This record gives sequence, structure tokens and C-alpha cells, in this order.
Amino acid sequence: MKTRWSLWAAAIAAVLMVQPESSESANILAVFPFCSRSHNNIYSTITKALASRGHTFTVITSQPLASPPPNYKQIDVNSLVARHLNVFTSTDEKMGILSMFSKLKDMTDDICRSVLNHPEVQKLIHQNPPEKYDLILMTNFFGECFYGFAHIYKVPMILISPGGPMPSTYGATGNIVLPSAVSNTVFGFDDRMTFPQRIINTLTSVGFFTYYYHYVMPNMYSVMKEVFGENIPKISELENYVSLVLLNHHFSLNGAHPLVPNLIEVGGLQVKPPQELPKELKQFLDGAGKDGVIYFSLGSVLKSANFPTETRDEFIAAFSELKQRVLWKWEGESPLPGQPKNLRLEKWLPQQDLLAHPNVKLFITHGGLLSFQEATNRGVPLIGIPYFADQSTNMQKVVNLKLGTKLDAANLTKENILNAINEVLGNPVYSTNMKNIHKIIADQRDHPLDRAVYWVEYVLRHNGAKHLRPAAADLRWYQLYMFDIFFVLVVIPLVVFIAISYVMIKLIKKLCKSKKKPDSSSKKNQ
Ligand SMILES: *[C@@H]1O[C@H](CO)[C@@H](O)[C@H](O)[C@H]1NC(C)=O
Repeated sequence: MKTRWSLWAAAIAAVLMVQPESSESANILAVFPFCSRSHNNIYSTITKALASRGHTFTVITSQPLASPPPNYKQIDVNSLVARHLNVFTSTDEKMGILSMFSKLKDMTDDICRSVLNHPEVQKLIHQNPPEKYDLILMTNFFGECFYGFAHIYKVPMILISPGGPMPSTYGATGNIVLPSAVSNTVFGFDDRMTFPQRIINTLTSVGFFTYYYHYVMPNMYSVMKEVFGENIPKISELENYVSLVLLNHHFSLNGAHPLVPNLIEVGGLQVKPPQELPKELKQFLDGAGKDGVIYFSLGSVLKSANFPTETRDEFIAAFSELKQRVLWKWEGESPLPGQPKNLRLEKWLPQQDLLAHPNVKLFITHGGLLSFQEATNRGVPLIGIPYFADQSTNMQKVVNLKLGTKLDAANLTKENILNAINEVLGNPVYSTNMKNIHKIIADQRDHPLDRAVYWVEYVLRHNGAKHLRPAAADLRWYQLYMFDIFFVLVVIPLVVFIAISYVMIKLIKKLCKSKKKPDSSSKKNQ
């Protein structure tokens, strides 16, 4: 274990100090106006690594850093988008996929309009002459209306996709994924799907793509015309400014998918070598001894403090029957009524460092991507309670790979909670499988953060690196998926063939009729 961590440390040191062929320091505009704490973990890990290499930043963010590096100017838009982030904090019930999608248009409309009209952002749009930027780092999470900056500054964009692929991840890079072999992240299907699953996956994948490109984006575009002026090119044209996408996925966890050279997997880039834990926390973990500790957290967006009281009490009742210690990221009042001695509550916890402690035997999680990555990086088995977005897909993967099990968020009874805990802690297969997947994740030629920094500077060194961009990115959908070719080579010949056959049959019938008449009378006579 020791040597592995020191390897990671060396990799990170390499990012920060070596890589000598560094491009000259660039002036970078970063646009991450709508981000949760976990998404910001991805964005800011990249921007901080780049800033430490001498690049200058202007960052539009809803999660400003408390102590930003030098040369790092922040425009705080949290107050404008906070209410949309809060939509995702409920733990009452599973959020319906349809209700989430139906909110998308109004949500993006409000975010685009309010952020683009923020006085500091307006300065970026209207200052004359415009400041000289070399590159734009752009959110790939419902942020296409901000592509207008690429038009103003005429510089390449790199999209960062913190939560997995969005419709424009593939649209902007020209990456072709067929819904027959790549499951979208909403339904929790494995990539190897049955025929009915392939039908559902195709309908939902094509449906969401169409909905997003033909309903949400045109709405964003009308906001862009108000803000950037009538002459702003269409979003599909502005996609030409996208040099590459950094995708927070990795094939070790998210499946082996086709990737064009301008789509780079950097999943796990936020994972750092473990740091020393705060003293009291360390004592709590050390003191658990052989029985170990269960760590329970629903991440940075969902709040377990929003649990209905009954659900909260089911957890307390379950935990009070355990010999293990339990550490619960609990944002509400403490102590809780009936709180047992083995349960410790903390409002915030250093998750990565905690998961690296050898006494942590189990992680009860909402199944968010970052938690999934961090648990597998540290080799801690999981119980997932998925609520929305990609959480059920991540946790289905956990079940399929036998890295743990999952609980139904609508059925959190003491009995179910205890059964799941006893299953994962009682059966060594889960921790064995976790150790194996940990080995695969650790076996990478470069650290994902190193890779992200390399590719950003690659785009800077090669003026946008347009050679990475496949022709597929410039074709219309019917050209790319060969509907036009199919039409010319199959449909037209088929129509011509059917038409000719029809005419021929008619003609032959006519000929036969005129010949048969005298024939039939002669036959009868014979
Ligand atoms: C809740 O869990 C119990 C035990 O696993 C199960 O018997 C029951 O059917 C579940 N209820 C619902 C509504 O899923």
C-alpha cells in the first residue's frame, strides 16, 4: 500500500512541477456558473493545478474558493443559481426522471439569463477592447448558452464534464456511441443489454438527445441573442470552437466505450494521496479496533438531515444494534434523540482521507460518481442508496461487480438496513472484489489530473489542436448515421424496383389477359 501512495504522490508532483515543455503561461477564462460542491471539486482541481503552473484565471463560479491562488480572479454567482442546486437536496423520495427533465428548460433559462446579466459577467461581454484570453474552460453541464464567450474572444474551448457524458459531450466531439452497446446513465442498465433494454435505451437516448438539442438548446439560444446580440452564431456552429472534452469517467468503472481523440477520460482526478486525519476523528477510527467503522454519507448535495423523521429513526435503530462504530455525515442538529454510543455525527468529513483508514470497512453512500470513484480508489465496499441521475447506474455496477449491495430509498427500514450491512460485512467476496478493482484503477500510466493538465496545455501549444477533431463532428446527424446514403443506395433503388415491378406485373397481366381469352375458349373445346 505504502509504495502505491508514494507513486500517486510522485505522479501529482509530476503534474505540479515537472512537465517542462509547458506552454507559456496563458490567460484562461473558466465558466462554471452552475456547480455543486462535488462538481466544483472536479473543476477547481483542474484550475488549481493549471494555476500552480503559472496560468492566469478568471473564473465564473457558484462555489468560489476560500483562498484562491494568486492570479485567480473569481466572479461569484452563487446567489443566482443556489435555488436550482437546492432542487437536488431532497431525500424524501426518488426524483422522477421526467420531473427532472421537465424542469430543465426553465432551469437552464433562468441560469443562463441571470448569470449572463450579472454585472461582472456583462463586463466580460461588453468591455472594449475585449481582454485577451487564450483559452476557455467551459462547463459541460447544461451550460451551452455560455459558448457565446468563444465567439467574443475567438479562442478554443475545452469542455469539462464533471458528471459523465451529456448530450453535447458527444455532439461537440463527434464521438459516436450506439445505444445498442452503450447504456445511458439514467436507467441503471449494464452496457450488455437485453433486447427490451436496448429498445428502452435507444428510445431514451435518442429522445433525450433530441429533446436537448431541439428544445432546451434553442431556448438557450434565444437568451444568447438577447445578451450577445442578434448576430451570435447558433450553438451548433459555436460547437466548432470546442477543441476537446475532459470527461469525468474511466473505463475501469464506467465501461469500455468508443472514444475519439478529442474526448479524454480523466475520471478520478480529484483523488489525492491520503492526508493526516484530524486528531479526534483519527482517535475514533483507531479506537474501533477489529470490528471497524461504517461511514455513512449522502454526499455534498443530498442532505440526510432532510430524511423524514421515521427514516432517520430507522437508521438510528439499526446502528444501535451494531458492534461496529458508525460515522455519519449529518448536517442537522446533534445529538439525535436516542443516539447510541457507537454513533458519531459530523457536519463535514474529509471523505478521501477517511476512506483510506484501514478500519473503515463499509461506506453507505448515495452512489454519486465521485463517491463511487473514491470508494473504489480506496477499496472500501459499498451500500448504495441511489436517488437520481447516474446514481442508480453506478450502484447497479456495484451490484453487478459484487462490490457491495444497494438499498431502495423508498424502503429504508431497520430490517433492510441491517440485512444489507450484515451481507456486505459478513461476506468477504465484497472486499476481495473491491481490492481487485482498486488494483485496476491504480494501474494507469499517468494520474488523471496529470492527463487533464497535459491535454489542456496541448490545446494551448497547438492553437486549438483542430487535428484532434473528427470529421464526424462536422456532419449533420442524418449524414453521420448515413441516412442520406441509405436513402440513395437502398430506399431509392427499392422504390424504383417496386415501381418497375408493379408496372411490369400490370403489363404482363394485361398481355396474359389479351392472350388468354382466345386460348381459354380453345382449351375448353379440346
Ligand atoms: C420493502 O422491503 C421488504 C423487505 O425486503 C420487502 O418485503 C417489501 O416488499 C419492500 N416494500 C416495497 C414497497 O418495496
